Amino acid sequence: MHNAHSIIGFSARHLLSVTDLNRIDIDLLLSLGESYLDLSVQKDSKNSVLAGKTLVNLFFENSTRTEKSFELAARRLGAHVINMSIAQSSTSKGETLLDTAATLNAMSPDLLVIRHGASGAPALLAQKVSCAVINAGDGTHEHPTQALLDALCLQQALAQDGRQLDGIRIAICGDIMHSRVARSNIHLLKQLGCEVRLIGPPTLLPTDADRWGVEVFNDMKTGLEGCDAVMMLRLQIERMGGAFVPSKREYFHFYGLDREKLDYARDGAFVMHPGPMNRGVEISSDIADDPEISLVTKQVEAGVAMRMAILYALSLQGGNT
Ligand code: NCD
Repeated sequence: MHNAHSIIGFSARHLLSVTDLNRIDIDLLLSLGESYLDLSVQKDSKNSVLAGKTLVNLFFENSTRTEKSFELAARRLGAHVINMSIAQSSTSKGETLLDTAATLNAMSPDLLVIRHGASGAPALLAQKVSCAVINAGDGTHEHPTQALLDALCLQQALAQDGRQLDGIRIAICGDIMHSRVARSNIHLLKQLGCEVRLIGPPTLLPTDADRWGVEVFNDMKTGLEGCDAVMMLRLQIERMGGAFVPSKREYFHFYGLDREKLDYARDGAFVMHPGPMNRGVEISSDIADDPEISLVTKQVEAGVAMRMAILYALSLQGGNT
């Protein structure tokens, strides 16, 4: 199927931020991800481009889908996977991130996937280890693999009607302030030629958001007008120092996506959510479970394919050699 030729020109050594990628890298990852979408449904096809390589999943924050998605992606390409979660790690015994990095480095992994509550932790780690580092979410900073899988998923959905990402209008709604998914998506979608809107209550929108090259709205009705896709975000209570919304019920009333609010968007607009979803808070079950409009499960499928593409591309960049 593909070989090294298909990713010639890929320049990133690590994936810490969407800003590490130029347009050529993004296009290469999207097309490689697309080929893995087809391949991952052929369960019997044995692909071993990562045979003999080791991936370490280093998760300092709880995760179900992201950690498993990386694990599955790596295994489907023939790699060994070691999962290290905070509960088992020695950080609970007072070891610092850098000590953990030195220990891991001595084990010579080829790919290191890290999720950490502190923005910038993956970048720090990348300076201390000799393998490729992939940011699986750092604080409120970035979640680049999520943005790439979202782009792949939406591109596939639009392609069904012969449309493409370039030129579409997309709204990212809700808790933008605490969302690393929003930050990575804004960068990536803008690079891909999308018109990006942010919608949320003033308390959940960063004050400098209007300088990000996006239009900012506090009202779903005006913000969703003419949108081809609507990306809902989880209300990230665990990142809030105090109360940012009066109540979940009131939040749903003004910002939760239901049929009535979705009607403000374009006919046939797609709905996305990175998960985990708070049903009845930012999205109604009725919308989340409607396969005609919701891309939520397709996002999970695209996640494995996109991570296969990312792991493969980074594994050819030198790694431990
Ligand atoms: C996101 C995250 O962890 O940033 N989830 C994910 O990776 N699927 C979004 C969230 O936690 O709300």
